[in-house]
Formats: sequence, C-alpha cells, structure tokens
Amino acid sequence: MGGDLAGLGVSTVAVHAGVDVDPVMRALTPSIATSVTFAAEYGTVGFSAAGTVDDAVPFAYAREGHPNAAQLEGRLAALEGAEDAVVFSTGIAAISGLLLQLLHPGDHLLVSDVSYAGTAEFTRGFLRGMGIEVGVADMSDPDDVKAGLRPTTRLVYAETPCNPVLKLADIAALAELVHAHGAQLCIDGTFATPVVTRPLDLGADYVVYSLTKYMSGHGDALGGAVLGPAPAMDSLRREVGVHLGATLSPFNCWLILRGLETLPIRMAAYAAGATRLAAFLQDHPKVTRVRYPGLASHPQYELARRQMRSPSGMIAFHVNDHQRFGQALSDQLRVFSFAPSLGLSRSLILEAHTGDLQRTTFQLDEDHLRRYREWAGDAFFRLSIGLEDPEDLCADLDRALSVL
Ligand SMILES: Cc1ncc(COP(=O)(O)O)c(C=O)c1O
Repeated sequence: MGGDLAGLGVSTVAVHAGVDVDPVMRALTPSIATSVTFAAEYGTVGFSAAGTVDDAVPFAYAREGHPNAAQLEGRLAALEGAEDAVVFSTGIAAISGLLLQLLHPGDHLLVSDVSYAGTAEFTRGFLRGMGIEVGVADMSDPDDVKAGLRPTTRLVYAETPCNPVLKLADIAALAELVHAHGAQLCIDGTFATPVVTRPLDLGADYVVYSLTKYMSGHGDALGGAVLGPAPAMDSLRREVGVHLGATLSPFNCWLILRGLETLPIRMAAYAAGATRLAAFLQDHPKVTRVRYPGLASHPQYELARRQMRSPSGMIAFHVNDHQRFGQALSDQLRVFSFAPSLGLSRSLILEAHTGDLQRTTFQLDEDHLRRYREWAGDAFFRLSIGLEDPEDLCADLDRALSVL
C-alpha cells in the first residue's frame, strides 16, 4: 500500500507509506474501519483462531488483522526499511510478545543491565519463572557482552539510547559480536525512532518500539510494534498476535498513523529544543552533570554522531541537592509537568533514585550496580523535551534551580 516509494525521502515516506487513495470514495485520508468481522467466500474461512489470514482473504476477524493495522504496519515498515511490521496494543505487549515467541525454556537471553523498567521486570521476573535463563550485560561494553554470552544464548536485547540513563549501545558492533556467536539481536529504538536510527540497517535482527511515545507523538494513544524479516513477522502475527490477543484498536492505529506524518519534523524540533536545554543545564552552576547524546561531554558522543541522525529529545541531569530541587518543582514549574512517559508535545520531568530502581527493578550484581552508579549516580532527573518554546522551558528549570 502507498504506491512505489523507493528512493523517496523520509518525510515523504512518513506521509504516504501504507495508505492508498480509497478506491470507492476517493478519500485521501484513511477511514477508521471498526468492523470486527469481514465477509468471506464460502470455504475460505474456517473455525481455527489463526491461519485464516492470507493474500486471498486479507481480513477475516479483526483480532487477526484489520485494515487500519495493515496501513500502520505498512508505514512503519517503510520508515524502518523493514520487510514487515506487526503492531500490538502497547510497547510492552510488542516486547513480551516477541520474547515469548523467540525464547523457550532452557534458552538464554542476554538483556541490558539498564532498560525501560517494564522490560527489566518482565525479563527478570516473568521469563525466569518460565524457565528461560536471563543474564544482564552492559551493552555499551563489548567485553561485558562477550563475557555474558553462553552456548545457549538465543537473543541479545538492548535499548539505545537506554531508558532512563541515556547510555548508548553500538548496534553494528553488537550485531557482529552476537551473530558470530550464532545468536540474534533485538534493539528497542523507542528513544530514537527510525528517523534517528534504523537498527535493522546496522545489522539488528529485530527492532521494537513503544508507539505510545515519539511515534504517536501526542500522548493520546498506546501502541507497540515489532519489525523484522517477513517470515518471522508472519509467525509473530499468527501466534502471539492472534493467541495473546494484544491487538491494536483501529482508532489507535489511525491516531498513530496520523502522528507518524509529522514524525520527521517533530524529531527535528525535539532535538533542537533538547540541544538548547542541555546547553543551558550544562552551563548552570547548580547542575552537576548532564547526559545528552548531543553534548560533546556525553561519554559516547562519537558513537552518537555515527549512529544517530539527531540526538533526540531526552536528557538526564544531576543537581547538587536532589531532594530540594524535587520539592521545588510543583511550585516553580509553569510549563513542565511532573509525569512518566515521553515523546509528546508537552515537556515532562521525572526523577529516578538508583536505590529504588535497584531494589524494585534492576536487581544488578555488584559489578553492574557499580557501572550504573558510575554513570548515573544516586539520583537524577529525566526530561522529555516537548514542542514548547525552548526559552520558556529554560526559564521554568531556572526558577526551580534558583531554590538551590
Ligand atoms: C524504551 C521503552 N520501551 C518500551 C516501553 C513500553 O511501552 P508502552 O508503555 O507503550 O507499553 C517504554 C515505556 O516507557 C519505553 O520507555
């Protein structure tokens, strides 16, 4: 769907891919197809829950696939340069679905020491409970990854930039290492989006996204996606998609498809705002450290320049009195909201305490906890820069920092 887009730029692909002019109404903007069931020819649809979907019968029952999901999957695959995509009701459903599809009892998964909390909890808790061995490695350090690989390692899973500390993983180097070991590599690219980094081009086997964040871009739709080779996506759709039933609703597909049209210009705006904010914070006397891939002071700045087309909109920073600054936020902030999530028009701030994260989420061994503390200290604040005027955002943080 969407015609031949070969050789066209990312902004053109973001607007056109996945959607054809409606053949009946000539509508240029897609409709929302809410039908749960689709009329079929006698003999083409049976009683099995999966397996009715093929080229002759594109849609039979909406849990197995529906027109708005197909449009969104087409646009995502085109943006990523992937053979195919499968969308899910949330980002964590995409991640857990892929891991459940690929891993079996006795397999070993090597996962980032630090990642989105839901992934850390799902891998260390749920997957271990199912008899899957789970190890952790610092994905920014090839020697640590090598040391973590086992003969049974089936999959290596990394986020880049990783939530919440903005450490990067070198995707091409990881892919080489992992493939030499006979395993596969999955990258969570939620903080970057395909506009910034295309992990499959760099050798990853799968890429996962929370569509809830930058991809949708307006904070009004949950969603997730897995992208990769067509046969793997086909079985993911038929197995996990159908049997776990984490289908993305037609309305959410439609919202996210619309959000994707502005993804390239939004990513440029987030990066421009975040670059201004990061420079402001770095120069502020009460700020002790800033982690932003666009700053030359980021320890992986060279990798960021090589792997990211822009530094995206997420910043982590430390202040000289974390508690006092935190208490000042509700009185001093006019523009930022104190809230979880990221990648919407509004700017958000959230705090992270290493002790709490270690206890509840990461459960790191001593070596990985030491690495975490060296990078992130005891506590920090995470910013998701939105689309407001950067000077208003600087003034907001300046007011809160003035209490220190
Ligand atoms: C990097 C990353 N991956 C996945 C997820 C999960 O996405 P969702 O909230 O859509 O389930 C999040 C959520 O914060 C995230 O930050």
